[in-house]
Amino acid sequence: MSPTTPNFSFRVATLEDIPIVHPLIESAYSGDESRLGWTTAAHLMAGNRIDEASLLAKITDPNSAILLATTTAKTSNTSVTERTPTAAGTQPPPVATQQKTDEVVLACCEVALCREGEGEAKTISLGLLAVSPRRQGGGIGRAMLAHAEDYCRRRWADVDRINMHVVASRAELIAWYVRRGYRSNGEEHPFPAEELERSGTVPLVPLEELRLVVLEKDLTECAGADGKRDSRQVERVSL
Ligand SMILES: CC(C)(COP(=O)(O)OP(=O)(O)OC[C@H]1O[C@@H](n2cnc3c(N)ncnc32)[C@H](O)[C@@H]1OP(=O)(O)O)[C@@H](O)C(=O)NCCC(=O)NCCS
Repeated sequence: MSPTTPNFSFRVATLEDIPIVHPLIESAYSGDESRLGWTTAAHLMAGNRIDEASLLAKITDPNSAILLATTTAKTSNTSVTERTPTAAGTQPPPVATQQKTDEVVLACCEVALCREGEGEAKTISLGLLAVSPRRQGGGIGRAMLAHAEDYCRRRWADVDRINMHVVASRAELIAWYVRRGYRSNGEEHPFPAEELERSGTVPLVPLEELRLVVLEKDLTECAGADGKRDSRQVERVSL
């Protein structure tokens, strides 16, 4: 992790987080701001990645959660303390010292329990992994992903597979997941065209070029496939 990366902690998003989390996702996936990061889908799609109603549904669904990595920004507010006249009758200078702590959301990730078919094994799907573009490349994405995997191991202890859908042409992103222990399971799917209108996503290439591959990982493998877990990280997890 770069020395400029702040300490951070993790928590589960609530409905109140939607106005913060939604722009974070959009800024990471497409549009000009996303180009500040090292990987983006801005050359493949424009518009929204997701709509607020879908985010709300994911937060309230008992089988899914949006996880957040957060840090705190300390801002000093000057406050004038009550002045007590001195013996000499002069006023002491005002004392400034109220510290306000504000939470900053750095990254998010969705995890959800799915059953692929009647009688079939349950799996966990992971999606919406996004790090604020200006904060990318400092280890936050790696830590967010490792935390999401840990969360799933604890919350759904009987499920050992986690998977995700990634646009097949995003080679640099797939390579990043492979370094985190994910492998293609051989499945490929067309981009779900029915979701485009609902979310407000505008494809910039023919839909065939947005083909999705499924990457999968066995959750019984050790956490943090790269073994680079940062010891400065503070975890405050609530399930
Ligand atoms: C994918 C994403 C979550 C990673 O987050 P991050 O905080 O940048 O990730 P980290 O800092 O942990 O890792 C950065 C990695 O990028 C690599 N990297 C940096 N610049 C790169 C470049 N130009 N090309 C390829 N890899 C690059 C680094 O080597 C490092 O990999 P390593 O840890 O295996 O050595 C983040 O880039 C993001 O939000 N992207 C936009 C949204 C998105 O595409 N999400 C995934 C959808 S499936």
